[in-house]
Amino acid sequence: MTLLDLVRGKTFDDFLLAPQLGIVASRDPEAIDLSTRFSEHLTISRPLVSANMDTITRAAMAVVLAEEGGIGVIDRGFRAGEIGPQVAEVTAVKRTQHGVILDPHTVGVDRGVDEARRIMKRTGVGTLAVVDEQRVLRGLLTERDVRFVSADKPVSERMTPRERLVVHVGAIGFAEAEALMVLHKIKKLPLLNADGTVLGLMTAKDLTNHQRHPFATRDPQGRLRVAAAVGATGDYLERTAEVLRAGADAIVIDIAHGHSLIMDKAIAQIRGRFGDVELIAGNVATEDGARFLVDRGVNGVKVGIGPGGGCTTRLTTNFGVPQVEALVRARIGAGDRVPLIADGGIKRDGGIALGLLFGGDSVMLGSAFAGTAETPGDIVLKPVLVSESQKIVQVPFKVFRGMASVSAVRERLELEEADAQEVEAFGAEGLEVSVPARGSVRAVIHNMLKHLCSSISYGGASSLVDLRQRFSADPVRYLGSLSDASRIESFHR
Ligand code: XMP
Repeated sequence: MTLLDLVRGKTFDDFLLAPQLGIVASRDPEAIDLSTRFSEHLTISRPLVSANMDTITRAAMAVVLAEEGGIGVIDRGFRAGEIGPQVAEVTAVKRTQHGVILDPHTVGVDRGVDEARRIMKRTGVGTLAVVDEQRVLRGLLTERDVRFVSADKPVSERMTPRERLVVHVGAIGFAEAEALMVLHKIKKLPLLNADGTVLGLMTAKDLTNHQRHPFATRDPQGRLRVAAAVGATGDYLERTAEVLRAGADAIVIDIAHGHSLIMDKAIAQIRGRFGDVELIAGNVATEDGARFLVDRGVNGVKVGIGPGGGCTTRLTTNFGVPQVEALVRARIGAGDRVPLIADGGIKRDGGIALGLLFGGDSVMLGSAFAGTAETPGDIVLKPVLVSESQKIVQVPFKVFRGMASVSAVRERLELEEADAQEVEAFGAEGLEVSVPARGSVRAVIHNMLKHLCSSISYGGASSLVDLRQRFSADPVRYLGSLSDASRIESFHR
């Protein structure tokens, strides 16, 4: 029996895994290697990806995902033609942390304090490099230097001048930079070229962040990585150009039906214009669908038609493939070169291990992160009846919605005035639900990682890669399918 025979028509709640001889000494995510590939050339230390949905991933979510070793995909759910807001989110992630800030914000040495204040306000940055016309460093200016000072005072009178600064000429490693900062009790270390022009800036805050988040997903400059979703029609080429300019590390062409001629054209256009950009495409759910994308040169494939928590595609079209079957089939179609993202349908932490064993190199999560503090959107208080006390209490909720839900479609199409039935006519395939507001997604992620490490321990493996290899070498040894009664025993609480 092949794995495909075992999983036809099946999804997450159809399986349990049989425990094997445990070999790890601890189930600590700090000690167990969970690294995997998000896409062909992009490795992540933890296999978690936040979904490109407008109620899930904006900068705040993407920052935490990257700090915790995963990655976020910024959604494109802004109005068509409105590229600026998505670019702003990508920019915000890229500017959150640095190794070396290669393009520190500057102010001209001949300028006034008013201009420096304007730059600080616009950029949200509290320290400016003061430079002359040749970009030679003349000093540093902090928020404190310009506080309570008249607007026309020259910057040169308030800055700490170059002679009083500790600087370093040339590139420098983190350890050496930290030693210099400790020795001189400074928080900022400008890096200069031999001619005195600005090469970069290192900050104590960034060094601390590097230590605090040792598993973070970073680019070679030490900035957090982030991906951005685009469509396959309309503004997608311009959108791709702009988010790449803002520093996006990967582009995800995300459409409901990725195995399509529209996708064929979009991949060709993006490859033609942007060369070897890291490109992920989806969604598909069959061997042919995955092969179709890999043959066209993508670096990653997103898998899932209809399993998502906010999704009604299967109800409204009757198309889709149960997610476990879809993952196995997509893996057969894609082969091993290109990683798969298991997208949708993971409702409990145990589903993460299954998504990764059946074919996903990473899992994309939407509803599992819904309601956390980092999701966009306001908290609304709703009266809820507590059955034990028969009292009504006000409970904080946040909205979670499918990207093809009536409200999301209505907003994107600027149809605020249209009634729901008119929008349904556009083919809405998503739901809108209220979910209880909860704390930071960081705690949710920490729990998921602990549970994944426990799965690795139960599975008799030493790392995520090891567990996946053991499973694919002998799936029958692991897989138990469930009766209705054993499913209730397992998952109904
Ligand atoms: P979960 O189950 O983690 O799934 O919430 C997230 C994924 O659901 C997909 N998605 C949709 N699918 N109609 C759909 O058919 C929609 O309106 C919709 N919105 C999101 C998407 O793949 C996401 O990553």
